Amino acid sequence: MQHLATPQPARHPSPTVKATGLAYVVFERPDLDKAERFLVDFGLEVAQRDAEVLYLRGTAPAPYCYRVHRGKKARFVGVGLTVASRADLELLATVPGASAVEAAPHPGGGERVVLTDPSGFTVEAIHGQAAVEPLPTRAPLPWNVGEVRPRINGTQRPTVDAPEVIRLGHVVLEVAHFQATCGWYAEHFGFIPSDVQVLPDGSPAVAFLRLDLGDTPADHHTLAIAQGFMPAYSHSAYELVDADAVGIGQRVLRERGWKHAWGLGRHILGSQIFDYWNDPWGAKHEHYCDGDVFTAAVPTGVHPVSREAMSQWGQVMPKTFTKPRLTPRNVAALVRNLRRSPDLSLEKLRTLARLFG
Ligand SMILES: [Fe+2]
Repeated sequence: MQHLATPQPARHPSPTVKATGLAYVVFERPDLDKAERFLVDFGLEVAQRDAEVLYLRGTAPAPYCYRVHRGKKARFVGVGLTVASRADLELLATVPGASAVEAAPHPGGGERVVLTDPSGFTVEAIHGQAAVEPLPTRAPLPWNVGEVRPRINGTQRPTVDAPEVIRLGHVVLEVAHFQATCGWYAEHFGFIPSDVQVLPDGSPAVAFLRLDLGDTPADHHTLAIAQGFMPAYSHSAYELVDADAVGIGQRVLRERGWKHAWGLGRHILGSQIFDYWNDPWGAKHEHYCDGDVFTAAVPTGVHPVSREAMSQWGQVMPKTFTKPRLTPRNVAALVRNLRRSPDLSLEKLRTLARLFG
């Protein structure tokens, strides 16, 4: 068993609030038409659209789970986290740098508090959004397994089209300031670590964080934070009904000319069957099904990190999946963060580059 050599990730004894869900992701894109083409092929439904903002949803009752603002450059902005009450919003409004409680000017309405995490990502805490009618979805395919054969004189013929996304499942972020960022999500939103992958020196490489819903099972991770050399979006993940839907998604996205990133496979930490695709700006989007759910009782697991440790079958994670783009801006950020982040050292960067670059 590996050990964790740093204070984070850890549970916070008395968080400001406990988030209850991941409501949406927010992006800026220079071309909303192009964004919509990819996301609809990926399996989301347009919920609302005007010249400046595009909202997409899954089949679940959330009014939207994906918001795209028209912007000069492609940029990941942040996430929306649901909280249980207006009182929770009022508590969050006291966090340094937070906005006051304000009306949310988006589908479903409700109220929000806008915060910025220590890595600069926007977090909108939201409460009171109105739900919408769920959309019809295909039922999971009934499998004949050994002697258990629910399908007699029947066939499997699922429709081969963009698979229906049920909901947004999780977001993975890379950060330079790992300890501060991890600690902030634990302190203010009550995230608890499900599993941590550590480098040989015991410092964390990836923390998989779940919501603290007490005895109610929560996704193994709703947020994961990876040690990088600058703040960056790694990927967001969307739940599909079953493995056939994941396979169908691969066929459809391939036929429509989108760029594949990694898959199919089954993860180890979280156990999801997965397939990753790049959007038109190279941002990774994951289809998954059959993820683990843990109650708050499950203790944190600590494991050595490696590319092989990212999946139990299927293609081993390719280096192209994690290789950073070394633009002049990114190199400048690397040099700056190497000086500023207490979590970074040349040796750690070399280790990360050996593993993932
Ligand atoms: Fe993922």
